[in-house]
Amino acid sequence: MMDLKHGLPLNFKRWLDDNAHLLKPPVGNQQIWKDGDFMVTVVGGPNERSDFHDDPVEEFFYQFKGNAYLLMWADGKYERVDLREGDVFLMPPHVHHSPQRPEEGSLCLVVERQRPKGEKDALQWCCAACGGVVKRYEMQLESIVADLPPVYERFYATTAEERRCPQCGEIHPGRDFKSWHKTLNSARG
Ligand SMILES: [Fe+2]
Repeated sequence: MMDLKHGLPLNFKRWLDDNAHLLKPPVGNQQIWKDGDFMVTVVGGPNERSDFHDDPVEEFFYQFKGNAYLLMWADGKYERVDLREGDVFLMPPHVHHSPQRPEEGSLCLVVERQRPKGEKDALQWCCAACGGVVKRYEMQLESIVADLPPVYERFYATTAEERRCPQCGEIHPGRDFKSWHKTLNSARG
């Protein structure tokens, strides 16, 4: 038998059944193969957030169950891109995006590749009132599991004053994503 580093084909439906408990809160996602050049992950709902991911590589989405959307941010402006059930989407590098998955039981296949050395990811938090950048943290991402949580913790540990928007003075609500979305919705009308 030839060396199939990542194993034989697996039945996706069975994999989903076996991992169903991980595809809902509090975990919400699971990577299928841990050491490939392709990072193939299934992400489940419900999951809402207020951080934006700036990824140096492309991301492929297949929203195969339920609906979700990507909130996108560019130059201080927000846009919503729907991921409806059955949609596939290839997102270019460096599109700042914040996946919103309000539906319980929704499932999305996400594929991205390992980052070339020197190409950094960033997590960014922006002002819901005016679109200004409140915080941005860059990192050389080697492991999604190990490298991202410390960045969230760093942001959550900031004081209200440190989360004051340099542009309009609004305080970013930190980990209270609900209140952030509420402000965004009223700001966008
Ligand atoms: Fe602001």
